[in-house]
Order: sequence, then C-alpha cells, then structure tokens
Amino acid sequence: MLEKISQLRKEIEALTASDAARVEELRIKYLSKKGEVTALMNDFRSVPADQKRVVGQAINELKTFATDKINALRDGLESAGNQDDSLDLTRTASPLRLGSRHPLSLVREEIIDIFRRLGFSIAEGPEVEDDWHVFSSLNFADDHPARDMQDTFFINSRPDVLLRTHTSSVQSRVMENSQPPIRIICPGRVYRNEAISARAHCFFHQVEALYVDRNVTFADLRQTLLYFAQEMFGPQTKIRLRPSYFPFTEPSAEMDISCNLCGGEGCSFCKHTGWVEILGCGMVDPNVLEACGIDSKQYSGFALGMGIERITNLKYQVKDLRMFSENDVRFLHQFTSAR
Ligand code: DAH
Repeated sequence: MLEKISQLRKEIEALTASDAARVEELRIKYLSKKGEVTALMNDFRSVPADQKRVVGQAINELKTFATDKINALRDGLESAGNQDDSLDLTRTASPLRLGSRHPLSLVREEIIDIFRRLGFSIAEGPEVEDDWHVFSSLNFADDHPARDMQDTFFINSRPDVLLRTHTSSVQSRVMENSQPPIRIICPGRVYRNEAISARAHCFFHQVEALYVDRNVTFADLRQTLLYFAQEMFGPQTKIRLRPSYFPFTEPSAEMDISCNLCGGEGCSFCKHTGWVEILGCGMVDPNVLEACGIDSKQYSGFALGMGIERITNLKYQVKDLRMFSENDVRFLHQFTSAR
C-alpha cells in the first residue's frame, strides 16, 4: 500500500497541464469520488490494524499533495493567461512614420500667412457656383469665351449652375455682403474643363486677394505685391508688372518675379528671360464694385489672383502637375521636413 502511495505521489508530482480542461481531467482522475486517491481511502479499510496509522497519514498527505498540485496547475494557467508576452509596456515605442503636410497646403498656409501680416483675413465661398458670382458680377461679357462649355464645367447642363473656374467669385460674394474697408484673402479649389497633362489639370487651387477702401491706388497694389514676392521668394526678389487684361480689373497687369532659380541670369526654367510669371492683378473695375453694391465714386480697390500650384512649382520645382493629386507617398514624403 505504501509503495502504491509513493508511486502515485511521483506520478502526480510530474503532472503538467496546458489548459483548464486538462486540469479538470486530472482532478477527476485523482481526486473525484472515483478518483485514484479517493480509491486509496476506500482500500484503507483492508489495511491491517497495526499499519493503519502510518498508511492513514500517508494517504492524507497524498491527498493534500494532490489537491495542492491540481490547484497549482490551475493557478499557473490563470496567471499565464493574463500575461501577454507580446505586450511589453516598458519597451520604448517603435518609431512611427510621421505623415507630412501636402506641398500645396504648405504653400497655401505660407501665402495666407504673408497676407495675414498685412491685415487680410480669410474668406471662403462655394465651389459649386452660379453664373452671376463667377462671371456676370465680375464684368464678363455675355459672349466671353470663359463662359464656354470648353472651359467651364456646368452641372447637369444647367447654364446657371457651374463649378467655379476661379476664386474671384468669392470677391463678389464678400462685396455683396459687406461694405469697405474690405481686406480679404480667398484660398480655394477651382475647376476647368482641361485635358489632364503635366501642365494642366481639371482642378487646381488659387488664392485671391481683394482690398477695397477709400483712396486705394495702384501704388498700394504694387507695394503689396513686392512685399509678397520678397516674403515668399526671398529679399533679393525683383518684381515686374506687365499690362494685361481681365474683365474685372482696370487697369490689369500680370506680375513676373526675377527667376528664383538663376537669380535673373537666365536659365531653361525661365526660358532664358530671367523672369517667371506668377499672378494676375489690377484695380477693381468700377463696374464690379457697382454690381456688388459698392459706391465706385467713394471707393476703389485692388485685386490679385494666383495659382497655388504655380507658386509651389516655383518653390519646389515640381515638374508635373499630376504629382499633386496622385498621392504617391514617395513624392509626399519629401515634404516631411518642410515647415
Ligand atoms: N481670376 C483670374 C484667373 O483665374 C486671376 C486673377 C487675375 C484674379 C487678376 C484677380 C485679378 O483678382 O485681379 O486667371
């Protein structure tokens, strides 16, 4: 009997279990009513009287030993279950790849920031517009080619609902709803019905600026442009204004800056002229002021508009416009360290 007890003890001592079902199986095998340890107790009756004390003690010890062992197996499983080896909270975090601002957002912010320093505040308008705000209020003649389907996306062929082709539409909205002094900058997306290529896209981004007050002159416009160009491209930058035509400004001009790649010496980027064109501008046509409810006898103003893609190309020499909308991370990640 004692030999059987010590054999069982060795057997129990060596037990292992990898899950709760196995622990329960072992409990039943040894400790249940029909279990092997319990069976020993039943056999105890047949033990000769002189051995009863020793054997009884050994059986009790075995029972305690088996109970402890089964409990230990169960506890071991529970604590193993709580401990997730894959999660070490003391480890230094693995480096996350940071995203980067889109180059167009970076440049838009920079443009806005420069004008904000001059007291301009942001105004926004809808991308789905009507003819009045995009064309008529801005002095476009009825037969102006920009109204043509070739340039403008009309919605459901309704001539009055269209995607704005320029952010100048925000000018007229603001002038309709407020009186001078007006000093606003309008960033936004615009749409034109163009075949997509390296140099043209069916959507792009513009920033428009408008200043209307008493006695605003072309000199104010010129100084604002010079300040903008030098803040954006560096203090060595020169500007040049060429006469131009826009329906909503009179006089109108286009502004060139000295080529920021060759410093005005002439290179392939500026087609050896030393100058690159960056924006359109002019004095707000009195017809536009009147159409928007502003007295053109008391007030005058200047407006300017530029393409954000164009400025971004100049700053970062992006050769293909399509890069801006393809979301290729190899392109976008190059701007991680930009402001
Ligand atoms: N709206 C013009 C365009 O899309 C840009 C422009 C030119 C805006 C002259 C102006 C301006 O405010 O004065 O090409």
